[in-house]
Amino acid sequence: MTHSTQSHLSASLTAYLEDLQESGVDGIPAELMTAPVMAPATTVTTAKPAAAQQLSTPEKHESLEAIRKELGACQRCKLGATRKNLVFGVGNPNARLVFVGEGPGADEDTQGEPFVGDAGKILNRIIAAMELKREDVYICNVVKCRPPQNRPPESDEVSTCIPFLLRQLHSVRPEVIVALGTSAAHALLQSKVAISKMRGKFHDFHGMPLMPTYHPSYLLRTGGNSDSFWSVWDDMIQVLQLLKLPVPEKSRKK
Ligand code: URA
Repeated sequence: MTHSTQSHLSASLTAYLEDLQESGVDGIPAELMTAPVMAPATTVTTAKPAAAQQLSTPEKHESLEAIRKELGACQRCKLGATRKNLVFGVGNPNARLVFVGEGPGADEDTQGEPFVGDAGKILNRIIAAMELKREDVYICNVVKCRPPQNRPPESDEVSTCIPFLLRQLHSVRPEVIVALGTSAAHALLQSKVAISKMRGKFHDFHGMPLMPTYHPSYLLRTGGNSDSFWSVWDDMIQVLQLLKLPVPEKSRKK
């Protein structure tokens, strides 16, 4: 490379990095602004938001038991003080399909198992309508301890707990993840887009297809023949198709 080409590239790179900084991308190591032009390209890293860094891919495969053991009698966030039972997850450790909810409610807190209350009955119906069994899939939540009065988990609680969820998801390595409701979709996809806009299409989650859909509790409120109920079924049809499983016929409301 000639000296003038090097100078030109150096000037372009510097201008590009300055543009990035001005547009709010921070985290580019300061030394790169003056780095020799021949520095390996791989040293230029795009800054990730803190939450995304927390969600970096675990390096090794680990068992669900090992992750549960590490959680122990977890008191990493304030939910630990008020929960009865930590609700880790249930189902097939080699499931092709994982459902992720928001967090345990009262029944789950008492029994130590996700989706065993009224919302769980709806989820069971969805699973059965897909001609699957609860034991075929894996079910877990964004947070493992019940938020008081069933409020949505707060951001510090989510960011403390979600690295464990990510490790669970990498341990199971499903072919599809279904995020049940706003909290799960927002936490996993680090998005604030309304669930009604996110659902109906697959999103990438660490190389795994993720389908956001409405939460079973929402279906409890809207009823078994509502538009949202059929939207969830449409989402599950896409999930079944991706898994190359038969799609059962359901008769739509008139
Ligand atoms: N709602 C959830 O999001 N998770 C549960 O486990 C139960 C209810």
